[in-house]
Amino acid sequence: MEQKDQLLQKVWLWSLLFFLVAAFTGFVYRWGLIGGDILGLRMSNVRHAHSHLMFFNWVTPVPLVFMARHLMKTAPEAYSSLKWCITVIILIGFASYPFFLIYGYHPVQIGTANLPFSVMLSGLVMIGWYWFGLIYLKYRNKADSSLSQLFYDGALVMLVVSSLGAWGVAVAQFGNIDNNLISGALTHFFLTTFTEGWCVLAAIGIFYDLSKKNYSLPVDKNWLIAPIVLGAPLMFPFGLSVDLLNESLLWTAKFGSLLVGIGLGINLWYMARALPSRNKVIWLFVLAMLALKVTIQLSAVFLPETLWLGQHGLRVLYLHLMLLGFVSTLFFAAFHTVNTRSSKAGVYLFLGSVFVLIATLVLISGLWPPAWQPTNVYRWVTVGAILPSIAIAVELVVAGYSRFKQG
Ligand code: HEM
Repeated sequence: MEQKDQLLQKVWLWSLLFFLVAAFTGFVYRWGLIGGDILGLRMSNVRHAHSHLMFFNWVTPVPLVFMARHLMKTAPEAYSSLKWCITVIILIGFASYPFFLIYGYHPVQIGTANLPFSVMLSGLVMIGWYWFGLIYLKYRNKADSSLSQLFYDGALVMLVVSSLGAWGVAVAQFGNIDNNLISGALTHFFLTTFTEGWCVLAAIGIFYDLSKKNYSLPVDKNWLIAPIVLGAPLMFPFGLSVDLLNESLLWTAKFGSLLVGIGLGINLWYMARALPSRNKVIWLFVLAMLALKVTIQLSAVFLPETLWLGQHGLRVLYLHLMLLGFVSTLFFAAFHTVNTRSSKAGVYLFLGSVFVLIATLVLISGLWPPAWQPTNVYRWVTVGAILPSIAIAVELVVAGYSRFKQG
């Protein structure tokens, strides 16, 4: 097996393991909500541990290894630096997990010193991202100037831009800047640019990397990416609490969302025509999730905000539709399109579990009529939350066995 595919397999297996830990942590949070014992952990810390592990060790290393694979097609000599860089990012990301779980963002007292380990390790992870960016810059000119490369370029730019928001949060926290609007805006600038920019562009880049190459674009290819790159950072006010929002912030977010929605709509139209020839049913599921995400996104532009503003449940639904429904299922589809040898049982189980989880999130989105809610709705939501962990465990065993057989 070629080195680029070996690296993909290894990183896939490790990322799956961390995905399992992060998904189970999400389930533990739900379990805690219905009164289960969670070893005295604070619920907000459990949620931070879940979201940070998802970000650092799932939706970052998987796209990075696909980008590495793309570079190594024309620059195989990049193997060792890419391997080390991704390994270090994964190790530091996982090292931050126990600190988020136990202490959240709070400092840990060691002797007389108070050290905010979770924040420090998060900073190191971001330095790891810059390291990857430098390696990418060094070898990118050797690679073909394909549509996937354009999306990989854009995704990495968004990753660096989002990290500026995260540095800002750290500075605001330790500089004792006591302004809710500034700290909220910086946090959501990071979150939105990372999710709508990095995660979505990288996922679409992976799609184009594996899709049929006979596309004839009716427009210049920059039109496929420009609205998303310009719009994603503007969407951050949607994350702010209602008391911090004002008219101009709301219109900025709506404008950004419109741009992203249009950009993704054009890509969707195009992606539906360039579906990879393998695993068509799985890819269609992925595109259906993207279409749903775009629909909710455009609804936020055109529907009156009194309907949806301040609905925490709707935010959680939208976020999981995008990051679990679209981005994570795309990773599964992509890995199985490259690696045809392992069984697809885990993938189909995963798609089913994602469908059920998202359906349960609709029930608590705030838009579902209360009269139609089943009794003990949170019990159903908790059952929905454990299903992806089971499916990921099956995929891990199947993919691990297949790698063991290949030697
Ligand atoms: C695999 C199955 C998953 C489960 C069971 C799960 C579960 C949860 C739960 C229970 C919450 C707290 C919701 C609340 O505050 O009411 C949450 C929040 C969150 N999850 Fe997940 N999740 C999953 C996948 C993901 C993925 C793939 C990502 C990102 C890559 C992700 C990122 C987040 C983020 C960022 C939040 C914080 C949302 C906020 O408070 O604004 N989750 N998740």
